[in-house]
Amino acid sequence: MTDPVLPHIADPSLAAGGRRRADWASRQMPVLEKVRERFAQEKPFDGRAISACLHVTAETVVLMRTLKAGGADLVLVASNPLSTQDDVAASMVAHDGVTVQALRGEDTTTYYKHIRAALDRGPVITLDDGADLVSTLHKEYEDSLNDVRCSMEETTTGVIRLRAMDADGALKIPVVAVNDAMTKHLFDNRYGTGQSTVDGVIRATDILMAGSISVVAGYGWCGRGVANRLRGQGSRVIITEVDHVKALEAAMDGFEVMPMLDAARAGDLFVTLTGDTSVIRREHFEVMKDGALVANSGHFDVEVDLKIVEEMAESVEENVRNHVDAYIMPDGRRINVLAKGRLINLAAAEGHPASVMDMSFSVQALCCEWALKQDGLEVRVHSVPKEIDDWVARLKLETMNIGIDTLSEEQENYLKSWQMGT
Ligand code: ADE
Repeated sequence: MTDPVLPHIADPSLAAGGRRRADWASRQMPVLEKVRERFAQEKPFDGRAISACLHVTAETVVLMRTLKAGGADLVLVASNPLSTQDDVAASMVAHDGVTVQALRGEDTTTYYKHIRAALDRGPVITLDDGADLVSTLHKEYEDSLNDVRCSMEETTTGVIRLRAMDADGALKIPVVAVNDAMTKHLFDNRYGTGQSTVDGVIRATDILMAGSISVVAGYGWCGRGVANRLRGQGSRVIITEVDHVKALEAAMDGFEVMPMLDAARAGDLFVTLTGDTSVIRREHFEVMKDGALVANSGHFDVEVDLKIVEEMAESVEENVRNHVDAYIMPDGRRINVLAKGRLINLAAAEGHPASVMDMSFSVQALCCEWALKQDGLEVRVHSVPKEIDDWVARLKLETMNIGIDTLSEEQENYLKSWQMGT
């Protein structure tokens, strides 16, 4: 199926501002620039349809320009209803030849209508952030499954979903776990989420972090990043975990670790990054302090049980500040939920900074090229080829003017030998 797909954006008149922000981001994405220069010469996509379901941000524009330079015919739709930056959406339509269907604040029906439009275009490659595109492809586009050569997945949550599909025998196309590349999760998940989450909380609330008590739920790469950045701002950070090793790591990293029920009594600010559902629920809301701030930075809006807080509240004051709704409990306590429990870093701030997306999106672009070159990729979750990870790390270091040492022949031989000991 290759139906024509028309743009659906909020306001074309925002294009000039969007372009300025995308150009700013582009200047901080030198690795992707190198990829783009080569793609412009070699045209690896040569008119092929690529559909992407990603956060529509200034950094995503730079990825789209890169795939476009490689000859791709592009449709871009949002991977979250609240993360779209309407100005860059307009700019891509006006200046970059990308068909964008994304509106900030779109409802669920529109969100899935856009995803279907991206699939109606008949892509050979798809890019996903959370696996909603691939999931819809499997549920509603069975006849098109064979046309998709491979899909790239950007997030931890998406990779977990895809591995679950694979384990269930439900996965019908090859996918690449872009998230699992070292040059992706070590930097994007940790430093990108770390900085942008704190940025989102501060923009939404303007609270003083110094001396506050923060509770971070989940000590994966994203949780580690957020906990460290909150600590850097002078907050006393408590970690909650369900995994013994991660909890131990958090304790040895110098954080307090305790169950959420205890943390709920102590925290001024809560941030969930677990990838799981109902992490903050009735028993936690019941004991939270007056004025508690509750935010989520995990991919889906399931970690904070909003239905329950709505049910418990006597009244709600919406938009007490942008991105803040206050739930007034029968005992008078106010519980402030940020960004309706959606990704705080993309809803209230601008997502990860460009310099870190430089690596994630270089991996994305190079994996698209790699996948198209493979003959009959096996249907399973593939790792990013090590050469791609190494190339991105090498280039990133070069662009940061950081040199490293190389092994001498003697050192190489030593590492290969097993006879030498004490
Ligand atoms: N995910 C997190 N931050 C992002 C950004 N700036 N652009 C696209 N996807 C993102």
